[in-house]
Parts: sequence; structure tokens; C-alpha cells
Amino acid sequence: MAQLMKLLVTIALTFAITTAIITTRTTRTNPKTETFAVKDLRSPGTVKIKPGRFLAQKDEGGQGPKARNPSATNRCNKDSEICRSTEANPRMACCNNKCMDLLTDKKNCGACNKKCKYTETCCGGQCANLNYNKRHCDSGMIGVNYGRIADNLPAPEKVVELLKSQGINRVKLFDTDKTVLTALANSGIKVVVSLPNENLTAAAADQSYTDKWVQENVKKYTPATDIEAIAVGNEVFVDPKNTTKYLVAAMTNVQSSLVKFNLDKSVKISSPIALSALANSYPPSAGSFKPDLIEPVIKPMLDLLRKTSSHLMVNAYPFFAYAANADKIPLDYALFRENAGNVDSGNGLKYNSLFDAQIDAVYAAMAAVGFNDVKLVVTETGWPSAGDENEIGAGSANAAAYNGGLVKRVLTGNGTPLKPNEPLNVYLFALFNENQKTGPTSERNYGLFYPNENKVYDVPFSATVTPVSDSKVKVPVNTPSHVGQTWCVANGKTTREKLQEALDYACGEGGADCRSIQKGATCYDPESLEAHASYAFNSYYQKNARGVGTCNFGGAAYVVSQPPKYGKCEFPTGH
Ligand SMILES: *[C@@H]1O[C@H](CO)[C@@H](O)[C@H](O)[C@H]1NC(C)=O
Ligand SMILES: *[C@@H]1O[C@H](CO)[C@@H](O)[C@H](O)[C@H]1NC(C)=O
Repeated sequence: MAQLMKLLVTIALTFAITTAIITTRTTRTNPKTETFAVKDLRSPGTVKIKPGRFLAQKDEGGQGPKARNPSATNRCNKDSEICRSTEANPRMACCNNKCMDLLTDKKNCGACNKKCKYTETCCGGQCANLNYNKRHCDSGMIGVNYGRIADNLPAPEKVVELLKSQGINRVKLFDTDKTVLTALANSGIKVVVSLPNENLTAAAADQSYTDKWVQENVKKYTPATDIEAIAVGNEVFVDPKNTTKYLVAAMTNVQSSLVKFNLDKSVKISSPIALSALANSYPPSAGSFKPDLIEPVIKPMLDLLRKTSSHLMVNAYPFFAYAANADKIPLDYALFRENAGNVDSGNGLKYNSLFDAQIDAVYAAMAAVGFNDVKLVVTETGWPSAGDENEIGAGSANAAAYNGGLVKRVLTGNGTPLKPNEPLNVYLFALFNENQKTGPTSERNYGLFYPNENKVYDVPFSATVTPVSDSKVKVPVNTPSHVGQTWCVANGKTTREKLQEALDYACGEGGADCRSIQKGATCYDPESLEAHASYAFNSYYQKNARGVGTCNFGGAAYVVSQPPKYGKCEFPTGH
């Protein structure tokens, strides 16, 4: 029931450079708003910008200004060494007198002044159109939280089919339910399980408890069920039954048990924190943890994560920040839509989304306590499709914009401004609307799907919008003989030009097997662009293991869970 504890904790990394607001609500069921640290409400023009650490160095060293990021307007005087030494990043180069990251900069991709086309992204120093080609891109991944506080959800086996039909290959659970873990066996879906908060004290006290827990809740299901991490507790610092002081001991015991069962290589440990663990978050570069948490729990936890190559799990909800400060935060900034952006006064980095600003505040807080190298995964984020009257911003159009914008951002973008080369890994909250959750209306309306598997709104899980469909299209339910199998087909509603371009890509650079659609071969009939494109797209999709983002082709394709019918042609699918 850890979800119930989810806090209405909001860190408003406000859009306007003038304010810093941290809003904390104790629980979603008992909202209490405290606002502190309202720094400056004057208009932007009159604000005195405190010089950041890097700007401040300018006058002292005499050695040229230090670029903090590729877009900083600092001069490197054609000397790439300056860029490399300040960034400790060997791929930095001095291009047109600015330090640029050749691995990620679209205008200096692989070499100074080598520009990518506007449809392309710079990945690993190579221009790539992410609709087709993610080979050089270590792009992030999208997973989903499968919460089950409801009495009307489909059986776990059906849920696994649903996940597969949507190309979702990562899921996070709030417990270690037997039926769910069994249904996920051999599905190809990677799983994060949770040890609930109510069992933390026992886990901290007794190694034999965690041995037994790991044995019965993890070991028993592996390797058939691909468990990749254990969330030890959830938002423990803000749990009303505060078990903070047991957290690290519990994590340490779980880790020892994993070692004992020889699972520590494949299963990582962590513990999702809420953004309320931060004392300061604005500007993002000034992010810091709450002082009373640092020594007792943050540092030992990060140390454990570092030693075990695990990621810090973070739950981040721009929705709460927006709902509490709708007068100050532009909605477009919260929803990943076009907006003017917000420049961090500390380091000059520009933010175009509240989500990125929130994540970078956590990175900055980690760096401030000496853990700049520990990676981060966003274990929960989402936007409710409905809410009470006072829950400003809740609604299905905004939820669709947020989740759609986030998926696109994760799959096609770089990391955050502070960590552009760290792929963003995100678990959406949540798979279903959960009718038994308490609290405000929003709590029961975070789902991407209704319990009957209809979409609440159109959520594309791939880089571009997939099928052209209205919002209540039934997710195709697999027939028993094709359980869990999916195919990729052409979207008949897209333009011929797009289809042709995508077909050319798939059969060319994409490496699809297009022999069967050559003249005289088995799938040449019917001789239509849509049929041929479908064959090629499906080949590409299957060759890429039906991964997220490998069936979209710029909106020219989508996933189906029934075998496609084009003449006598047989479309292969996975196993
Ligand atoms: C976890 O805690 C709950 C509540 O105290 C208890 O009912 C349950 O048996 C515990 N689970 C384990 C595996 O100890
Ligand atoms: C929980 O306990 C820790 C110390 O064990 C304390 O620093 C923190 O403020 C407490 N949090 C709450 C919400 O009571």
C-alpha cells in the first residue's frame, strides 16, 4: 500500500526566475501546505542575479572563463583543451569559441560545425533520425508502475498481454505479488519489485528475515521473471510511520541476502525518494538535501548505491508543483510544450521543462554531498486525468500532453541539461486507474488505462504518435493462439510520402529483410505500398526484438496484436 503514502510533496522549480517556492503537503489525504523560501517576487528585470560558482570564478583565476555547459556563452579561444579540462569530458571541443559536447550537440555533432538535419538528433557524435534509428543513441527507457489498489483490474496474465501489446518492457510493482510475478515469467519484461514500508523494520533488524524475504519473493521467481531491482521501501522519509532510521540497515541486509543467493549482479537495490527530501531546489543548480537527512541516511544510502552500482530512485511530480503554483508556472513549461524556457542563474543552463529542472535539482543535491557519479532513475511520474475542483491542471488533455511529452522527451532527447549524456529512465505512474485509492479524486485517476483496458487518453509509448485513433479505442485483445505476440504494420492513414520514406529506410539502412516483397516473391502480392511497408516495418520491429520505439517510423506504423492479413503473406513474430 505504499502508493497510499505518496506525498503531495511539491517542489516548485518555478518558471519565473524570481521565485523559489517549496510546497510540502504531508500526505495526499491530508493536504497541508507550507510555503517557505519565497525568495523574490519582483519582476525579472529588477532581480539581482547572484553570481553562480562558475561565474564567480571568472575574475579570480585570470585564466579564461569556465564553460559549464555546451550552450554557455563562454569563450574558449579556439583551445579545446580549456573545454576538456573544465568539463572533465574528453568529447568537449571549442567550436566557434564555445565549448560544445560533440556527442550531443546538434550543430556540432561529431565535429565542429557538423550540423544535423532538423529531424535528427545528435547521438554519440552521429546524426540520427530517432523515428527510425536509435543505434547510436543511448536513449532513455519508459516503464510503467503497475499499481493494484483496485477491485476491478484485469487478471495479471491479461495485464502482461496489454503491456506487450503496447511495447512496454519495464514494469514496477509495489510488492511481490505471487500471481503478478508468475504472470510476468518469460515475458521479456523487466521488473522492479518492492519491499513494503511496513516490513522495513523487520528487514533492518534481522539478516535472516531478508534472507527469507529474498528467497521467497525474488529468488523463487528468477530467472524466469526478470527482476532487475528491489525498491526497499517507498518514500520512507515522508511515511507517517517514519522508518527512516531503519532504511539503510534494511537495504544493507537485502543486499547481503542478494549476495548470498548470488543475485547481486542481476538485481540492484534502491529506495524511491520523494522530492521533499530536498531542502532547496531552485535554481536547480542549488539543489540540496534536507540537512537532517544528509548524515543519517542520504550519505550512507548513496554510498551503498555507489558500491552496488545501483541508481537512486526518485519520484517526481511536476503536477503538484503546478497545481500549487498555477499562477506562477506556465502550463506549457509543466507539460513539455513549446515555451520560452528558464535559465538557471547559477550555471546558465536553460530549462524547457519543470521535470528536467526537478531532476537536475536532485543531481545537484547529490553532487553537493559528493555523489556526482551515482545515477538516477525516475521511479514515478505522472499527471492525473481527473481531479477535484481545487486540483488545478488535472484533466485528460493535460495528462495526455504530459505523458506524451515525457515519452517523446525520454526516447528522443538527451539527458537533462546538467547531465546531457545520462539517458533518462522513467517509470510512468500508473498503468491503471485504481478505484480503491483514498484521497483526492486525482489519486484514482493517474492511470493510462481504465480497468477494462481502454485507454484513458492516447498515450504513445514510442517516439512519435503511433496509430491515428480516437481516445477510447479498445486495446486489441489477443486471441488465445497469439497470446503476447505482436506485429508492426503500416498506418494506412499516413501519407504515401511518409510510408515510402519509411519503407526505404527499413529496407535500406534499417536492415529489414525485404526479400519477400520483391517481384515474384511470396509477399509481393498484394502489390500495395501499405502491404509492402507493413512487411518491412514488421521485419524491422521483430529484428529489433519489438523494442519500444522500433515500430513508429514517424507515425507511419503501429503495433498490432492480431496477425496482419495481406494476401497469403505470413508475417513473422517473436516467440
Ligand atoms: C509485512 O508486514 C505486514 C504488516 O505488518 C505483514 O502482514 C506481512 O506478513 C509482512 N510480510 C512479511 C514477508 O514479513
Ligand atoms: C523521520 O525520522 C528522521 C530521523 O530518523 C527525521 O530526521 C525526519 O525528520 C523524520 N521525518 C518525519 C516526517 O517525521
